[in-house]
Amino acid sequence: MTTIVREMKIDDIDEASLFVRDHFYGHEPLMLTPGNHPLIYDDPKKREYRLSLVRQGTSLVAVDQSREGRTVGVAFAGVMHPSDLEQNWREVNERKPKLLMEHIHYFLCNIKKHAQFFEHYNVTDALYLKTLAVDSTMRRQGLARRLVVTLMELGRTRGYPLMVATCTGQYSTRLMASLGMECVHSELYADYKDEDGNVVIRPPEPHTEASVMAIKLQEMPLYSPGLYKTFF
Ligand SMILES: CC(C)(COP(=O)(O)OP(=O)(O)OC[C@H]1O[C@@H](n2cnc3c(N)ncnc32)[C@H](O)[C@@H]1OP(=O)(O)O)[C@@H](O)C(=O)NCCC(=O)NCCS
Repeated sequence: MTTIVREMKIDDIDEASLFVRDHFYGHEPLMLTPGNHPLIYDDPKKREYRLSLVRQGTSLVAVDQSREGRTVGVAFAGVMHPSDLEQNWREVNERKPKLLMEHIHYFLCNIKKHAQFFEHYNVTDALYLKTLAVDSTMRRQGLARRLVVTLMELGRTRGYPLMVATCTGQYSTRLMASLGMECVHSELYADYKDEDGNVVIRPPEPHTEASVMAIKLQEMPLYSPGLYKTFF
């Protein structure tokens, strides 16, 4: 196997940002809503946010050693507390969403808030998987599964009680479910409307709903003993 999964470092951020542009934006189901929507993949705020996740040591990169260590997958993740959700919620409510990206942001903040996963699991911190993407030429080879399993093992080793991800499409939901994550809350895109009553988030079939998925890290089965040690 020539692909390895390892912790993302600050030096990886430029390549990882370009990777997100090429393999996440324009691929993630919600961003496939028909129409000509401006997608800003990198700006100072986004960059600082990604850097803050990398500094926590909780983000991963998959690199292909046979192609000079080229990035072929990323998982940006970081610790989340109830106060982060509250702050996000206040921020998205500062003005009405108009552009598709603003609606997506609002929808995702809303579903996270309604999932009430901190209350449901009675915890005050969670490892939150923010962005998962695999090279579009290397999909269906188990790379996302390796990234998520490695992240779970990293989270467990660091002592986090819970890992959470908001899955915006059927494929990622299926992947998380196959790894023992349970659906805490889901919402249909058809039910989210703008102030004129129009459905604005319209991903292609088969993606009809977003699901907040979670797993108790300290109780999960050991997927591959020693995996964490292999990669870090
Ligand atoms: C979703 C994504 C990360 C999956 O990456 P991947 O490396 O192809 O996934 P894996 O090969 O590890 O697949 C794991 C499981 O996910 C599900 N899955 C992944 N892609 C699928 C597809 N195209 N069709 C149906 N099921 C799919 C399957 O259950 C699969 O298990 P199986 O192959 O044993 O059936 C990748 O398609 C991607 O980068 N998409 C664009 C960005 C995105 O949508 N990210 C997630 C946002 S929440």
